Amino acid sequence: MKVLRTVGELRQAMESHRNAGQTIGLVPTMGALHAGHLSLMERSCRDNDITVASIFVNPTQFNNATDLKTYPRTEEKDCALLEKAGVDYAFVPSVEEIYPEPDTRVFDLGAVAEVMEGAMRPGHFNGVAQIVSRLFSYVNPTRAYFGEKDFQQIAVIRRMAQLEGFDFEIIACPIVREADGLALSSRNVRLTPEQRKIAPAIHRTLARSLDMTRDKSVGEVKQWVKEEIDRQPFMTTEYYEIVNPLTMQPTDSWMTSDGPAVGCVTVYCGDVRLIDNITYSK
Ligand code: PAJ
Repeated sequence: MKVLRTVGELRQAMESHRNAGQTIGLVPTMGALHAGHLSLMERSCRDNDITVASIFVNPTQFNNATDLKTYPRTEEKDCALLEKAGVDYAFVPSVEEIYPEPDTRVFDLGAVAEVMEGAMRPGHFNGVAQIVSRLFSYVNPTRAYFGEKDFQQIAVIRRMAQLEGFDFEIIACPIVREADGLALSSRNVRLTPEQRKIAPAIHRTLARSLDMTRDKSVGEVKQWVKEEIDRQPFMTTEYYEIVNPLTMQPTDSWMTSDGPAVGCVTVYCGDVRLIDNITYSK
């Protein structure tokens, strides 16, 4: 695996693979890699001749300076994991390399970016659009891979791609979980042992709510999920929304015109912010 640190090197390497007629998969990350990230790498390596993973803690998507400062940085370990997963290139740029000038672009992301994470973290999705649009234009991949754990992020990236005229495939990959159901996240290491024991209640509650769609309304299930999570020690739901899987707008029906509704939750477990979701399909 080659580690590239400049945009010039990356563009050049990608161009030579494209000229050779090879397909390229791109997997953007912020590092602190775990099995969830690695599942995206494996999928990309299966689907494409060449896989490039990026590791970049993107400052423009953080709306909290402490969160940015304390974000785990484990480059050496990450590169070893990428190499083992069969990744061909790791793109590990500095902040100055990506943003020699401040990025002042404001994307017209529309309604998909206004609800849930968009409402709770102002500017977050615009920052995601800034970095992902740059990576897309440097790499010009055949396919790009994102995890459904950040369900709304995928909708936002699709919207950005449409705005910017990127027409390659954007592939959504399933959530990877611990054996007890907790969705893998770089933030899980910040849970205390007691909190870690309680945290699987998030997925357990969402999974139990699947059976309620037969005889309960969306409103009733929404309330039940919130109450069930909030009665756990350490846990407070920030939001639980049941939404259309493409538009991210709240829905009252279990089956929408764009497919089964998706329940998206954010929970504070102590001061650790955890997100998860579930698709209400039969
Ligand atoms: P990061 O949080 O590092 O996640 C990188 C990718 O891994 C995202 O597409 C995310 O959805 C996916 N992922 C994380 N945990 C997962 C899990 N348990 N199962 C499956 N996929 C999982 O998301 C970002 O970085 C950034 O916003 C980024 C897109 C890189 C832009 O900076």
